[in-house]
Amino acid sequence: MTEPLRAGHLRGIMMRAPAMTSTVDFYVDSWGLSLAEKGDGVAYMAGTGPEPFLYGLKDADTFGIEYIHFGMPDRAAMDAFYHQCIDRGATVLGAPAPFDDPIGGYGFEILDPDFRRLRFTTELTMKASEDTFALPRKVSHVVLNTPDMEGVRDWYCETLGFRVSDYSADQMVFLRCSSDHHSIALVRAPYASVNHVAFEMPNLDSFMRGIGRMKQKGQVPSWGPGRHGPGNNPFAYFVSPSGFVIEFTSELQQIDEATHEAKVWPRTDPEAMDRWMTAGPPTPAQRAVMMGRPDPGFPELKQA
Ligand SMILES: [Fe+2]
Repeated sequence: MTEPLRAGHLRGIMMRAPAMTSTVDFYVDSWGLSLAEKGDGVAYMAGTGPEPFLYGLKDADTFGIEYIHFGMPDRAAMDAFYHQCIDRGATVLGAPAPFDDPIGGYGFEILDPDFRRLRFTTELTMKASEDTFALPRKVSHVVLNTPDMEGVRDWYCETLGFRVSDYSADQMVFLRCSSDHHSIALVRAPYASVNHVAFEMPNLDSFMRGIGRMKQKGQVPSWGPGRHGPGNNPFAYFVSPSGFVIEFTSELQQIDEATHEAKVWPRTDPEAMDRWMTAGPPTPAQRAVMMGRPDPGFPELKQA
């Protein structure tokens, strides 16, 4: 099999939960995003980077992911990538076409093996970008719980061109589609759900000041601050008003394709997993909130 075309960069994610659009103020006042667009039952939150939105809030009956959003450089890349998805047997939800929503763009959607919807777009209207102290600039990564870690890993690698960056014991795999150590990671779990979404701060000072803003608003991290082993990124996890885990991070390891070799990080050395030794292992409560509620995804779209 030839080397697959690679999915473009991670743009962000649209989440769904009951009354989620009523939580816009939390994301503006505490988390540090801005309201970019508001539609009927949906709000688009932007960061300081060029993406028109990073994190969407959609009112829905169920808790989970509406879609994970990736960018492609242009229509030619989009169309080639679309044909690769078809050739490799992905469940594709229609041919590339314009999207009719406040963000727009041209692209298509597919379902992953856990029935998560993935959207690929190009030709979005990008905005002016300027790093701002203590404000998130982009979505760094999305971590997914899955009952089939190896199968879903292989699908992301073979169908979408992701590459394995590292493993955490036999429980987690980190996948990249750019120089970022991971844009997607998978966690072995009893059912499919979202584990957490991480937002990138421009530097370590901004990361700490973001934690400070949350603290002044009455919310301390549910885990962290600390610095991970795999990816070498600082982390501070919080629980959103909808019960989803969100993370501030920064300084994620950048991968040199010519020299990087994936390795398995054992969990037996605490200092390798918690480099500052500030965080300790996750508590049972943290593990539970990262397991989250089962996300049914969109199996009905497969039949449509
Ligand atoms: Fe993370």
